[in-house]
Amino acid sequence: MEPRADIGVVGLGVMGRNLAANIQDKGFQVVGFDADAGQRARAEAEGLTVAPSAAALVAALRVPRAVLLLVPAGPAVDAAIAGLRPLLAAGDIVVDGGNSHYPDTIRRGAEQAAAGLGFVGLGVSGGEEGARHGPALMAGGDDAAWRRLEPLLTAVAARFDGRPCCGHVGADGAGHFVKMAHNGIEYGQMQLIAEACLLLRHGLGLDWPAAAGIVAGWNAGEEASYLLEITADILATPDPEAGGALLDRVADRTGHKGTGVWTVEAALALGVPVPTMAAAVWARALSATRDPAAAAAGWPPPAAAFTAGDLGTALAAASLVAYGEGLDLIAAGARHHGWQTDRAAVAELWRAGCIIRSAALDRIAAVLRAEPGEQSFLDRGWSRRRVGAALPAWRRILAAGAEAGVPLPAFAAAFHHAAARAAPEVGARIVAAQRDRFGAHGFARVDRGGSHHAAWEGR
Ligand code: 6PG
Repeated sequence: MEPRADIGVVGLGVMGRNLAANIQDKGFQVVGFDADAGQRARAEAEGLTVAPSAAALVAALRVPRAVLLLVPAGPAVDAAIAGLRPLLAAGDIVVDGGNSHYPDTIRRGAEQAAAGLGFVGLGVSGGEEGARHGPALMAGGDDAAWRRLEPLLTAVAARFDGRPCCGHVGADGAGHFVKMAHNGIEYGQMQLIAEACLLLRHGLGLDWPAAAGIVAGWNAGEEASYLLEITADILATPDPEAGGALLDRVADRTGHKGTGVWTVEAALALGVPVPTMAAAVWARALSATRDPAAAAAGWPPPAAAFTAGDLGTALAAASLVAYGEGLDLIAAGARHHGWQTDRAAVAELWRAGCIIRSAALDRIAAVLRAEPGEQSFLDRGWSRRRVGAALPAWRRILAAGAEAGVPLPAFAAAFHHAAARAAPEVGARIVAAQRDRFGAHGFARVDRGGSHHAAWEGR
């Protein structure tokens, strides 16, 4: 093979094959490799140029070389890099397009730099369809590596109003950090939609196809989102074998690959409140561990104290809270790691291609530009007004859920997050006083600076 290819793709599974085909469609020369002969044969049958070994792939690349890895996160990434490193030369770049944990990306970037190689941690969102026709791409790494890859990445990314959904969001692990926050939002919004569907069915007594109509209606309005779109489709899908809704044949439990757990861990370490995301992670864990045999056989009669409109209003506000949690986490991560991450640019690059794309993101990006500053996204005037306006409807659906025993952990977590931000008082002064009373930990006063200790009654 002549050394003419613009990029090598290592890992020809679903994501690798589809991204390679997308890159090829945009006029770039791509060569692929997978350690698995079956995957190589399948990629070749789909029209990709495939090398028989990693060495042959590297030999086919233009210098300086660029290799994009799409292998499962974890040890497989280190193994792929270790296999490539002796074949590469100073100035070559490795791009990790998997869902890697960002501390691993920081480490790998430093190891690559020590060997004179460039490294980019690339968050890729959009699943199989996105990879094939235009994903959202969140790149982290040094400027020089980004500049070299920018033409190719912007060509393959999804577009919103003609603008590529692709950007350099900071150094080293920033791309994978932003993708991690994206996944936390994804978890939160998926869980919120699931809870809304549960309430449509067991609070309003609709069957799944009728619920599909309501969800499709929400998706037709100004809160349109990809997750609403696919949920409406899911609710409307019949079971081809037994009739009825296919959803009723799906076991009521779900797993995960751990990205939501990373998000919540990072948020805990950085002290950023992400209760909506955390509730979604707990909900998945609970679904996987609860005993369905111990569950009730049916539901109490539907509580009719709310409307589908209330549910749509509360869902839009709770989804906004999930976006806010993710954006606040990105701000804190950037501050901690010294990344220059522009949250408005991140919201913009999420407007198409990725799983959390929605009409709301355009408004969110505009708010971040119009009201710049370090404060929480949720404390900006626009966010407060939007969330505040939804609170009466939100209270009704929480009350109805509680009455009917329909579990709404993400709706409740997001509500209490929003309520705590807006409440005149949150009870933290009592906790501060308790800490000072039993442990002399000190407390701040409203009327003077410094840390104070008091002789509380009873001591
Ligand atoms: C995306 C998704 C994608 C995948 C998650 C699934 O943006 O395309 O986030 O990366 O759906 O990794 O994660 P869980 O298995 O943890 O749900």
